Amino acid sequence: MEANKKYTWHKIADSPEAIAFGENGLAEVTVHGKTICLAMHQQQLRACAQKCPHAGAPMVNGYVDPLGNIVCHLHRYKFSLQNGRNTSGEGYYLKTFPIEIRADGIFVGFAENNWLSWLK
Ligand code: FES
Repeated sequence: MEANKKYTWHKIADSPEAIAFGENGLAEVTVHGKTICLAMHQQQLRACAQKCPHAGAPMVNGYVDPLGNIVCHLHRYKFSLQNGRNTSGEGYYLKTFPIEIRADGIFVGFAENNWLSWLK
């Protein structure tokens, strides 16, 4: 998460157990009108864009490899769940979102548009 970015936080669920993960450890949720993909890997919850930046396949149909990359099911491109880097080297970038686990639930942060936050 970039320190100088401003985020608005939206609640996803009360707890990780309340999220309907598939056997592949992935789930889709819609929050604040936006559908995102959630991944549970080594007890860490991560969030990324719903669709693959290559050709738009749903990331929820892929899997997470042992290194913590989400692998798209369609052409097997890999992306770091930490920073969205295309670790298989095709030059794409998968948007990721910060997650916070708080006493009152799990929250995802959506970056505010710079020009909007400038007005505040
Ligand atoms: S659509 Fe995901 S790798 Fe091609």
